[in-house]
Amino acid sequence: MANISKPDLRPANPRFSSGPCAKRPGWSLQALEDAALGRSHRAKVGKSKLQQAIDETRALLGVPATYRIGIVPASDTGAVEMAMWSLLGARGTDVVAWESFGSGWVTDAVKQLKLADVRKFEAPYGEIVDFAEIDFDRDVVFTWNGTTSGVKVPNGDAIPADRAGLTICDATSAAFAQDLPWDKLDVVTFSWQKVMGGEAAHGMLILSPRAVERLESYSPAWPLPKIFRMTKGGKLIEGIFKGETINTPSMLCVEDYLDALQWGKEIGGLEALKARADANLKVLEDFVAANDWIGFLAKRPEIRSNTSVCLTFTDPDLVAQSEDAQNAFAKGVASLLEKEGVALDIGAYRDAPAGLRIWCGATVEATDLEALMPWLAWAYAQQKGELKKAA
Ligand SMILES: Cc1ncc(COP(=O)(O)O)c(C=O)c1O
Repeated sequence: MANISKPDLRPANPRFSSGPCAKRPGWSLQALEDAALGRSHRAKVGKSKLQQAIDETRALLGVPATYRIGIVPASDTGAVEMAMWSLLGARGTDVVAWESFGSGWVTDAVKQLKLADVRKFEAPYGEIVDFAEIDFDRDVVFTWNGTTSGVKVPNGDAIPADRAGLTICDATSAAFAQDLPWDKLDVVTFSWQKVMGGEAAHGMLILSPRAVERLESYSPAWPLPKIFRMTKGGKLIEGIFKGETINTPSMLCVEDYLDALQWGKEIGGLEALKARADANLKVLEDFVAANDWIGFLAKRPEIRSNTSVCLTFTDPDLVAQSEDAQNAFAKGVASLLEKEGVALDIGAYRDAPAGLRIWCGATVEATDLEALMPWLAWAYAQQKGELKKAA
């Protein structure tokens, strides 16, 4: 293994970051030429672009006509926290986490909102909480795709359609790559920076009619900052869901999102986007199947993400080492690949177990992943060689 020679072929695009993710194939700054720059977002041109972003999102994701879609401040985090701060507290809450971002929402519910009746459900990296344990007559906050562990909810079967509580779902690394069962979800959030390769800064907040009902019938006990406020005098501010954003959006980011949505439509819509992510995951699955020194953090295929794919080194020599040593080894592999310019930003998330995380969402080309795989074997062999020298 130590004698693997450097591969000749390099990925045409080495960008495999889990966010901001690679731009769509063929993207250039020219795609933004029509941006309504230097114009008011309240002017006809600005407003119609924001409305178009909402309409095209609905069309591409298949969001029901009865659901509201709003563009809100502060990327996915803004959208999730806006929902949590506005909706929670009316009934008991279950918060569910199996990796770092979900844990962040647990902290919000328990330590920041200090909800009186809150239960937390947690699973370790690589696994998922058993949804059968969750009471959907309470409000439930969860992440559809755990970006830092590469574990996704397999489907919405465990969520009753006639639940009494609201389901608040952070779907930022799932939207446009995985099926989202709209009848099981009351709040869905995501950022443009993930699967579509757009820019951060703005969040998408999708609300079911029942979520709107809650907003109009319940006022939380805590103060809400202006950028979280979705109602006025007990009525939903409908304008937010027609492109009248709460505060000023970046029209450059809006143009870029419109470009990404147009690309998604042109290549065949949601089915094509999902198929691209699945095909990308397959490249990694084939590689893992052929190499006994590497495995998935998510061992069970039904919960394995097709976007944020997390890999661990399974070589017994390595597994026997300390956590720090394993981290150093994985970081060494990622940094060798970065130095060679063949893979950027593929180190595991800082709170996750040692390993690599390779984004497989739709904007990534399968051919680039195929070109990367021999490099992975090469970098691994190099690092193993270093380890032997040090021993
Ligand atoms: C599951 C999940 N939730 C929330 C976030 C935070 O997203 P943002 O930085 O767009 O607010 C991320 C970012 O990677 C994420 O993966």
